[in-house]
Amino acid sequence: MNSSPTNSLLPVPSGSLQIPESKFAAANGNGHYLSFSLVIPTYNESKNIKEVIQTLSGLLDNFIAGDYELIVVDDDSPDRTWEVAQSLIPDYPQLRVMRRQEERGLSTAVIRGWQVARGQILAVIDGDLQHPPEVLLKLLAAIEEGADLAVASRHVEGGGVSEWSFARRFLSRGAQMLGLILLPEVIGRVSDPMSGYFMVRRSSIAMRSLNPLGYKILIEVLGRGKIGQITEVGYVFQERQEGESKVTWKQYVEYLGHLLRLRFHLWPIGRFLRFAVVGLSGVFVDMLVLYLLHDPSALGLGLTRSKIISAEIAIINNFLWNDAWTFGDMASKQRGWRKRLKRFLKFNIVCLMGLMLNVLLLNVLYNFLHIHYQWANLIAIAAVTFWNFWINLKLSWRVTEIKN
Ligand code: GDD
Ligand code: MN
Repeated sequence: MNSSPTNSLLPVPSGSLQIPESKFAAANGNGHYLSFSLVIPTYNESKNIKEVIQTLSGLLDNFIAGDYELIVVDDDSPDRTWEVAQSLIPDYPQLRVMRRQEERGLSTAVIRGWQVARGQILAVIDGDLQHPPEVLLKLLAAIEEGADLAVASRHVEGGGVSEWSFARRFLSRGAQMLGLILLPEVIGRVSDPMSGYFMVRRSSIAMRSLNPLGYKILIEVLGRGKIGQITEVGYVFQERQEGESKVTWKQYVEYLGHLLRLRFHLWPIGRFLRFAVVGLSGVFVDMLVLYLLHDPSALGLGLTRSKIISAEIAIINNFLWNDAWTFGDMASKQRGWRKRLKRFLKFNIVCLMGLMLNVLLLNVLYNFLHIHYQWANLIAIAAVTFWNFWINLKLSWRVTEIKN
């Protein structure tokens, strides 16, 4: 397999974290496709790496002999894990080793490995034997059966962790909850979004600008990949025999940064700006109608009655513009006045709840946090705009059924 006679190290890719499509991947190698590439990110795993390579190649030689590769990506470990791995190359023809000296971090290490990989299926496993290798066969079978992504999960049947402290379990679940709040459409797709053990079809992530932060490469794949069917396989996360975990508070901060980065990437900026412009037009309509109804020089009706009418007319204005412009593409998939009326009623309820949220927030900021009422009002309007946008996107214009 290894065209290079000596046990030379792999060149480290540089530049953007984009994975090439198969045809380019094969060209990089010696011109033939492989079905499976397994990346093993390592940092200070010199005591584990030999057994890891031995076990993995023993398993895969019985299953897909000659049709897979193992790629160790080491970030210049002080314990010279890369050197130990490199010394194994002559004995394991499927083994390739990369030593990164400029970059550091689990997720980017995995992607650099996938960038030089030649397989149609790209996988990752930890280099410390905490991920039981035999689960790979079940994950491979899931991909064969049509899944784009197969994830080894601790939170499905047959899954679990051996001896994690209560604190680590709490932090792991807490991190998952935070992810579900900030990024429900991504984190909610799998039971173990924190898993570091999975495989994905190259075509689902090729040519996409990946940009992870820290440890959670699976969230990056879910957030930026084109992932259809997902299969999860239960596994028990084993206790570490040698070395120690590199997880510190830093990884949790990076995780939060990663969630926000993906949130921004996935936040439909264009649609939100259109929604905000329509919202602004609603403010003008509201003020104009309130003037025409309440001002003594005009109809001179009571303030509350005038305000309720002006607010409702503003909501109708916003609905019509949002239905035609902001969410026009989604509305066009749900034709007929009945569906439109349903959207309008939902929009109306969401906006009225927004109004209540606005008054509540205004009072909390003014009475409890003693913020100046104008600032408090602005903050409340901004918060409610996000609320109105997000809930209406997920509820009022959510495409339920498509009439072709
Ligand atoms: N190249 C590289 N660079 N590898 C790294 C780095 C890094 O900066 N940091 C850690 N690794 C390697 C480790 O050597 C190990 O092989 C693997 O990544 C996982 O690191 P651990 O530090 O052992 O993580 P953990 O066991 O606490 O947590 C693992 O399991 C969790 C449950 O699936 C990780 O995979 C977590 O992401 C995962 O949530
Ligand atoms: Mn580990």
